[in-house]
Amino acid sequence: MRLKEKIAIITGGNSGIGFAIAQEFKIEGAQGAIFGRTQETLEGSVKELGPGFIAVRGDVTKADDLERLYAQTAERFGKADILVANAGGAVGPGTLGSVAEVDEASYDSMADLNLKSVFFTVQKALPYLNDGASIILVGSIASNKGFAGMSVYSACKAGVRSFARTFSADLMDRGIRVNVLSPGPVDTPVFDKFGLPEGQSQQAKKQFEEMVPLKRLGNPAEMGKVAVFLASSDSSFLLGEEISADGGIAHL
Ligand SMILES: NC(=O)c1ccc[n+]([C@@H]2O[C@H](COP(=O)([O-])OP(=O)(O)OC[C@H]3O[C@@H](n4cnc5c(N)ncnc54)[C@H](OP(=O)(O)O)[C@@H]3O)[C@@H](O)[C@H]2O)c1
Repeated sequence: MRLKEKIAIITGGNSGIGFAIAQEFKIEGAQGAIFGRTQETLEGSVKELGPGFIAVRGDVTKADDLERLYAQTAERFGKADILVANAGGAVGPGTLGSVAEVDEASYDSMADLNLKSVFFTVQKALPYLNDGASIILVGSIASNKGFAGMSVYSACKAGVRSFARTFSADLMDRGIRVNVLSPGPVDTPVFDKFGLPEGQSQQAKKQFEEMVPLKRLGNPAEMGKVAVFLASSDSSFLLGEEISADGGIAHL
């Protein structure tokens, strides 16, 4: 029970990696809130997590929604000890593509979700976090690679990796540590959300499997276990750090 009596907030906790993080946190004794836009998956996820968790519906790109998330969580649990800025990934058709193709609206929606929202997810949380809190930003090993068609997403995730360093420096006086969990390809619903033509998301998964030295996709629970380490005092000497949980794809 490495997170006994800890209060955690997980954005995007209603799907994929975020939900698995919430499940692992629960196993370790935490309670808290999950946040996302889809009512159905919020309800299903919070039911599975049990009475120690609440679901708040909203959009991480909207400051008012973030304020509401933190106010509602504080009303139920008091201040939080762990924040996971995990919401991100796909924003629909047209946002993946070569530098020759991506239009300005697609660029903006990708950057709003995967970079700007991370900044304000953290900023708006600060009054609601205990000193000594652990903040985990979900990056991606895409930030270290040159995957074709992923320029905007990868640059956003490189920005997220940079935020962990500067936020840790900014928040040092409160003992708040900020680190990055950078997954490699993980088997989640994200592959179906890029608006790829029929069959291409399965093909993309297969291509990633081949690229990973372990020759498989990661599973969400493997990300959850790394998040537990970063959230707990086991990682008390880590700040501004990145852990790549990626089957070796970034470094081998
Ligand atoms: N799966 C991978 O291979 C992989 C690899 C590297 C990094 N990552 C990163 O891991 C994180 C989680 O991705 P995943 O694979 O678990 O994808 P996922 O299953 O699609 O989950 C994404 C989560 O983010 C939430 N979300 C998206 N836009 C949102 C918004 N505007 N406001 C609030 N919530 C929003 C979604 O909920 P709603 O749709 O209900 O809002 C969902 O809960 C992302 O940051 C992604 O970039 C994933």
